[in-house]
Amino acid sequence: MRKNSGAFSGLIFDLDGVICFTDRYHYQGWKRLADEEGVYFDETINHRLRGVSRMASLEIVLERAEKAYSQAEKEEMAERKNRYYRELLGEMTPADLPADRKETLIRLKESGLKLAIGSSSKNAKFILERIGLDGFFDEISDGTMISRSKPDPEVFLTAAKLLQLEPAQCLVIEDAKAGVEAAAAGGFQSAALGPDAQSSSLATFKLESFSDLLQICGIV
Ligand code: BG6
Ligand code: MG
Repeated sequence: MRKNSGAFSGLIFDLDGVICFTDRYHYQGWKRLADEEGVYFDETINHRLRGVSRMASLEIVLERAEKAYSQAEKEEMAERKNRYYRELLGEMTPADLPADRKETLIRLKESGLKLAIGSSSKNAKFILERIGLDGFFDEISDGTMISRSKPDPEVFLTAAKLLQLEPAQCLVIEDAKAGVEAAAAGGFQSAALGPDAQSSSLATFKLESFSDLLQICGIV
């Protein structure tokens, strides 16, 4: 196995929409809630929720609401959406880890790079268990450990600290514009996957496929 000969010592991966397609389930959970509340919601609005915390996402969903909701009502709605979302997560199996992700992650790890998760989600560990990646990453920084969500860099700075690396030694992999902005704000280079992340001029690399990471890290 070729050793990592690139510029990075660590990789910090966003989870939803990067490692697996739970971004679809977030959409379905929010759509179900919005329909129940009679609030207009579509895929375009959903893009704005990428990387953003659950409560901040709810505020975006409710921009189209005709009534004002109390804090208690908002908390109930966030919980309800999370219940719908977790129903979908509960059906995931290791088959929901795409083959190209699995193969690339294994090769990156074998090259000696340190790997971490940097996700705003409070469900990150549950998702990793569902898709068979429990214990795979060296460190996990997630929504249970931070007080400010992306585009604030807190989740990535926490991951770098856990990996005992400086931001300049790490590459962040993101599908969210807010995530690319968070990486830049923290002094990280980033690899953008998909149209939302690639719409940011702050992305260092634009990935055509997940396995492009091997080349960026000097492994192939
Ligand atoms: C991010 C998603 O990973 O996690 C956001 O991109 C989501 O869309 C956020 O709102 C929080 O997730 P959770 O699982 O804690 O509701
Ligand atoms: Mg994401």
